[in-house]
Amino acid sequence: MTFETLFSPLKIGNFILKNRITLAPMFLCGYQVDITSEIKKEVRIPVFANGRINTPDLAEEIITKNKADAVALARPLFADPEFVQKIIENRADRIVKCMNDMVCGKQTMQDMDAVCSQWKKGDE
Ligand SMILES: Cc1cc2nc3c(=O)[nH]c(=O)nc-3n(C[C@H](O)[C@H](O)[C@H](O)COP(=O)(O)O)c2cc1C
Ligand code: SF4
Repeated sequence: MTFETLFSPLKIGNFILKNRITLAPMFLCGYQVDITSEIKKEVRIPVFANGRINTPDLAEEIITKNKADAVALARPLFADPEFVQKIIENRADRIVKCMNDMVCGKQTMQDMDAVCSQWKKGDE
């Protein structure tokens, strides 16, 4: 799912308050997996799941349960660009998780460069 689909409130249940669209469902891990799975049943092209897939275990579960053909990570990779490398190197326990506080989003919505509130934690 993309920003464009986030603007489809009837489809995925976003909340619209006085013309302001919030990204409220984004707090749930894997919040778009079910709808992705439904889409996958109807089409004959690869379908990617996206939306707060912030642990390797969740990513693996989505694939092994055939809910999507692949997963796409946006904020989890922004929080920790080494997300995949750490899995490969058996250091998944060192992944810096996206905490969904949307500091990055607030920055970009004000036309500022995005920063992640979790970056310092990678140095610990
Ligand atoms: C700071 C920020 C900027 C984003 N910019 C775009 C964008 O320009 N176009 C788009 O389709 N989605 C954009 N997204 C949505 C992401 O691509 C992604 O669908 C969403 O963040 C949920 O996935 P995630 O939990 O892996 O981040 C943006 C998300 C964030 C947090
Ligand atoms: S700023 Fe917050 S929501 Fe954005 S990537 Fe970092 S932890 Fe995730």
